[in-house]
Amino acid sequence: MRYALISDIHANLPALEAVLTDIGGRPEIGATYHLGDLVGYAPWPDETVALLERAGIPGVAGNYDSTVATDYRHCGCRYEDPVQEQLSHVSYDWTRKHVSSVTKRALGALPFRIDLLPNGGHTAGPRVVLVHGAPTLNTLYWTEDRPDDFCLRMAGHAGAKAGDVIAFGHTHKPWHRTVGDIHFLNTGSVGRPKDGDWRAGYVILEIGGGTVDTEFVRVEYDVDRAAREIERSDLPNAFAEYLRTGGQPAPASGGRG
Ligand SMILES: [Fe+2]
Repeated sequence: MRYALISDIHANLPALEAVLTDIGGRPEIGATYHLGDLVGYAPWPDETVALLERAGIPGVAGNYDSTVATDYRHCGCRYEDPVQEQLSHVSYDWTRKHVSSVTKRALGALPFRIDLLPNGGHTAGPRVVLVHGAPTLNTLYWTEDRPDDFCLRMAGHAGAKAGDVIAFGHTHKPWHRTVGDIHFLNTGSVGRPKDGDWRAGYVILEIGGGTVDTEFVRVEYDVDRAAREIERSDLPNAFAEYLRTGGQPAPASGGRG
């Protein structure tokens, strides 16, 4: 079975459209799931949620989705410096003000976790656990440099065993590690990559017959359209530069928000 896993779209409609077109050109993909953070940082929150619904793509709640849905006091994001923190608050306030009640309800209805059993639930076999950040909280940043112990503890929380996959996003940097024959897969980000590559990122996961294969895909999209609309909106212009540079703008442009 081959899955496309898309995460951290962050209201970047042009990036999502390009990724869905790319997936549409790969008939071998059996199903697509999103891993949350549908909104925030770009001006198309309603359109992003509506497009995923139209495309019939289910998924889990990111921290941005569950905090907007519940009117939490902040987005649950980690800040690397005071400038980034300030910009994050602007983005969160903007998003809360601009999402429709329909979108807010849709965000609130997203489950925390989805389990996939590629062989079917009627037989023993591998399990794919989809969460946004980690099996305990969607705010937890699971970076590639976490120790093996941490990965196994999270696998314990998820009830994962050898041969299973835990897939997540949240850090906006793609990676794949295996610890104790359990696969830990960070999908990267569709709409706000932070690894210095501006292209939209997602992952194709193939699982079955005792093997797990992953392919990290990058898709060019109309980043100028996204940047222009950010600059035209009340969102901080620094977010446009952030998209153009894959999350690594020069310090003078307003930090690494
Ligand atoms: Fe995110």
